[in-house]
Amino acid sequence: MKILVTGGSGFIGSHTTVELLQKGYDVVIADNLSNSEEWIVDRIEEISGNRPYFEKIDCCNLSELKKLFLLHSDIQAVIHFAAYKAVGESVDSPLSYYRNNLVSLINLLDCMKETQINKLVFSSSCTVYGEPHYLPVDEKHPVQKAESPYGNTKQIGEEIINDASISSKLNGICLRYFNPIGAHPSSKIGELPQGVPNNLVPFITQTAIGKRKELKIFGNDYPTPDGSCIRDYIHVVDLAKAHVVALERLLKSKNKEKFELFNLGTGKGASVLEVVEAFEKVSKVKLNYTIAERRPGDIIKVFADTTHANEELGWKAELSLEEALLSAWNWEKHLHQKN
Ligand code: WQD
Repeated sequence: MKILVTGGSGFIGSHTTVELLQKGYDVVIADNLSNSEEWIVDRIEEISGNRPYFEKIDCCNLSELKKLFLLHSDIQAVIHFAAYKAVGESVDSPLSYYRNNLVSLINLLDCMKETQINKLVFSSSCTVYGEPHYLPVDEKHPVQKAESPYGNTKQIGEEIINDASISSKLNGICLRYFNPIGAHPSSKIGELPQGVPNNLVPFITQTAIGKRKELKIFGNDYPTPDGSCIRDYIHVVDLAKAHVVALERLLKSKNKEKFELFNLGTGKGASVLEVVEAFEKVSKVKLNYTIAERRPGDIIKVFADTTHANEELGWKAELSLEEALLSAWNWEKHLHQKN
C-alpha cells in the first residue's frame, strides 16, 4: 500500500517514513528540500531496509503535484508535513508563511479530490490552544487567537480540512503536536536546524557540543514552581508511531467522524530548568547557561491531556524525557563527527 508523505525528509516526516517502511508500506516522499537534505533519504533506507520513492517537488506548484499523483496513481492516503515552522520568521514574513503553508494544503486537497484519495493525516500544533484556560489541555479546549502567522496557518489548515470533509468524501485527522524532540535511536536521522536554533533542545545540544557559547533560559520569574516555562516534550519516535496509528484508523475506516483531532503529547509537563538538569544527567556534560529576559509570546505552561488519543487511537507515548534527550545528544555527536 502506497502512502504519500509530504515533507518526508524533514524532522518528523523522516521518522514517520521509517515507521511506515518498517510496517511494510510503500512511501512516496514529496519534499522541496527547503529545510532538509537529500541524504536523509539514504539514511531512511539504511534504517528501514527499504527505500522510499523521492520526488523533489514543491507542493505549492500545482502542476508538479498533479504530475506526482499521475505518476503514483496507486497512492492510498496522504500524511502532510510539508510546511514552514519557524514562529519568529513567520512574524517577519507572514505572506510567505500563509502562501507556503496554505497553498500547499489547498493544492494537495485539490489533487486528492481529483484522484479520489480521501484519507489525510495533517500536522497541527498545540499552539492552537494559546495560553490554556485549564491543564492538562484537551481537544475540547477552545482554539484561541494565534500568537503568530505560523500558528494561524495551523488553525486555518484545520478549518480548511474540516470544511473539505463536510463538502466532499475527505476524511481528515489533525494531530496537534506538543513539543517534539529527540532523534532516531540509530542516530542516523534527527533534527537539522538551519542556522541558530530557535527551539530549546537543539540549542542545548549545540551548546553542549561547543557550537554555541551558552544557552539563555528565557525567564525564571514565571508563576511556575521553578520560575521557568513548562512544556510537554514528546519523543519524535513516539510521535512518528502515532502517525501510523492515525493513518491505519483512516485506512480501516475506523474513524468515528470525518474530521478528527488528537493531542499528541506525553501528558507530563517539564520546565526549562528541569530539561537542562535532565540533559546534564544523561549526557554527563555540564551546560553553560544563563538566565535571560522572557521571550516575547512564550506560553507559560502547557501540557496535554492525552486521554482521547490513548482511548481512541490506542496510542500512548512510551519514551521518557531522558531517553529523548539522550537520543538528541547522540544525534548531535553524530552530526559533529560527520562535519
Ligand atoms: C521551549 C521552552 C522557551 C530556547 C515550539 C513551536 C510551537 C510548537 C511547539 C509546533 C520555552 C525556552 C527556548 C532557548 C529557552 N510546535 N527556551 N532558551 O516555544 O514551546 O514551541 O514547539 O507547532 O509552534 O514554537 O518551543 O523549543 O522554542 O521553547 O529558554 O534558547 O524553552 O522560552 O519556554 P515552544 P521552544
